[in-house]
Amino acid sequence: MTDKHPKHSRPWPVILAGLAALLVIVAVGVVPRFLESAPEGPAIGGPFTLTDQSGRTVSDADFRGKVMLIYFGYTFCPDVCPTTLGNVAQAYDLLSPAEQAQVVPIFVTVDPERDTVDQIAQYVAAFSPAFVGLTGSPEQIAPVLKEFRVYARKVESKDPNYSVDHSSILYVMGKNGKYAAHFTGEAAPKEIAAGLKKQLAG
Ligand code: NI
Repeated sequence: MTDKHPKHSRPWPVILAGLAALLVIVAVGVVPRFLESAPEGPAIGGPFTLTDQSGRTVSDADFRGKVMLIYFGYTFCPDVCPTTLGNVAQAYDLLSPAEQAQVVPIFVTVDPERDTVDQIAQYVAAFSPAFVGLTGSPEQIAPVLKEFRVYARKVESKDPNYSVDHSSILYVMGKNGKYAAHFTGEAAPKEIAAGLKKQLAG
């Protein structure tokens, strides 16, 4: 019987070397991220000092002991922000008064150039008196966006009514100020309320 297989040079060393290279690539890519997030879960969020809708300087520490439900957007947003904030207001209304006392919905602008204190004040009041609206200088806002890994980018235009592309995530920060959970911006009021109740119970 003749050997029908063509004569290969031994393939195993090549395959093993390939696998080893792949493992190195995976390790280099994964290990730093793992180390970064290992100490206390996903490193989302962090300290902030901004201005609320009454012109008062507030920091994250002012909300310790409350669950913060934080959304980043801008008041001139034509669709996503108003829909999401409407859902948050409805979710808040689904909570009991005792639960409401432990939750603060917070709106942070990604467009500080247009979202002045007065602009933010009018905007959040239209959704719920429970809302805290936060703005600041672009230099104050930028690091907060980075901490929460928010994507926001002004769509360049000569039109003063420019739009801002931005990510749409609702962050639940526990009473200790640390990240606890998140919802996508499309989450329904019932879903948001259930998540908040779970956070308060846990
Ligand atoms: Ni928006």
